Amino acid sequence: MKKLIAGPMATLSHQGLRKIIEDFGGCDEYYTEMINAASFLTHGQFESFYALNDFGREKIVWQLTGKDSEPMAKCARELCASGGIGIDLNMGCSAPEIYKSGAGIAWMLKPREETERLVCEVRNAIDSFNNQTLVTSNDSENPHLIHRHQRLSVKLRLGDENFKEDEFYDFCEMLYKNGVEQLVLHPRTKKEKLARPPRYQFVEQLALNMKDKIPVILNGNVKDVASYENAMSKAPDASGVMIARMSAQKPWIFCKLGIRNEELGIGASGAVERGFLVEKDGDVLVDRFKVGMEYIANLRLYQPKEFWETRMQRFFAYYCDNFSFGHYIKSKMLNCKTLEEAEKTFESYFDEMPGDRYEKI
Ligand SMILES: Cc1cc2nc3c(=O)[nH]c(=O)nc-3n(C[C@H](O)[C@H](O)[C@H](O)COP(=O)(O)O)c2cc1C
Repeated sequence: MKKLIAGPMATLSHQGLRKIIEDFGGCDEYYTEMINAASFLTHGQFESFYALNDFGREKIVWQLTGKDSEPMAKCARELCASGGIGIDLNMGCSAPEIYKSGAGIAWMLKPREETERLVCEVRNAIDSFNNQTLVTSNDSENPHLIHRHQRLSVKLRLGDENFKEDEFYDFCEMLYKNGVEQLVLHPRTKKEKLARPPRYQFVEQLALNMKDKIPVILNGNVKDVASYENAMSKAPDASGVMIARMSAQKPWIFCKLGIRNEELGIGASGAVERGFLVEKDGDVLVDRFKVGMEYIANLRLYQPKEFWETRMQRFFAYYCDNFSFGHYIKSKMLNCKTLEEAEKTFESYFDEMPGDRYEKI
């Protein structure tokens, strides 16, 4: 079975969205939005919100960003204590303000020893946590205490525009040799925009290189069953797929990909209890109005007030693409100044367009 992973997205991949995805049956791993290590260590007023883990707790991967290894290692050690699968190092973000500061994809472009030092320091921090933390084994016949295993992973791109294939694979080999246990490849270069087709052939080659070593996950442009199947046909040796943007536009995407429905049965999921999934004339439908309203309600519960407006806007910038008059409702939502206004605006759209409310799963 291929893994299905919710991708990290700054301002979007937080507890409020995770809760909705969990209600739809969940996915295998939740990467958090990138957490700035140096800021996190200040324990400022907003930082604790990044570490909320009430839903899908055991499946969370804490993604770190930063320009220096020391705070990243310290932060990794702290976040290990929040549980979850482990720590991910962001080596893929190519937003200019990130890489120019020495973070994100800059780690693929710095002198190799510097990046190696980062990986080793974070690996050591995780190991020291693992070695000091005992948990009960999963073996119900013979329960005994074992060391905790928090994983180290890296999410990366191909590199700069003039990257060389061999050097890229060599870089990945260095990560593996220094204890990285999973790689997620978003196969675009630093400057390649999301509109450009991802180069899945590099995922396949990397997966073949890492066969019997560590899992390689494909990321980029998976948005429905057809694109999932296309991606898997191009990279059959990948161990799974990470979905970022579509997990915000359609938090039910993992459910829609079919696997979750069969495993859990639609009737078993929290989405039915909460009215996100309804049955009509033998079809199972998503109530997109209720999901949107739940997202706003979750902002109140799980985000600091100072973030409400911008996080509502970032979400609806994707979510509105579900609707026939997406541009119209998007511009109205992006102009809302309060969550109350956003709720009223969103609700009124379905008075005008009742047919947009449901989507067949
Ligand atoms: C709004 C937004 C925020 C993102 N933030 C992050 C991030 O915090 N960390 C990261 O590694 N990638 C980030 N990405 C990149 C995505 O995780 C993913 O690699 C990219 O969107 C391609 O996957 P997709 O086609 O499934 O969206 C972000 C992308 C978007 C659109």
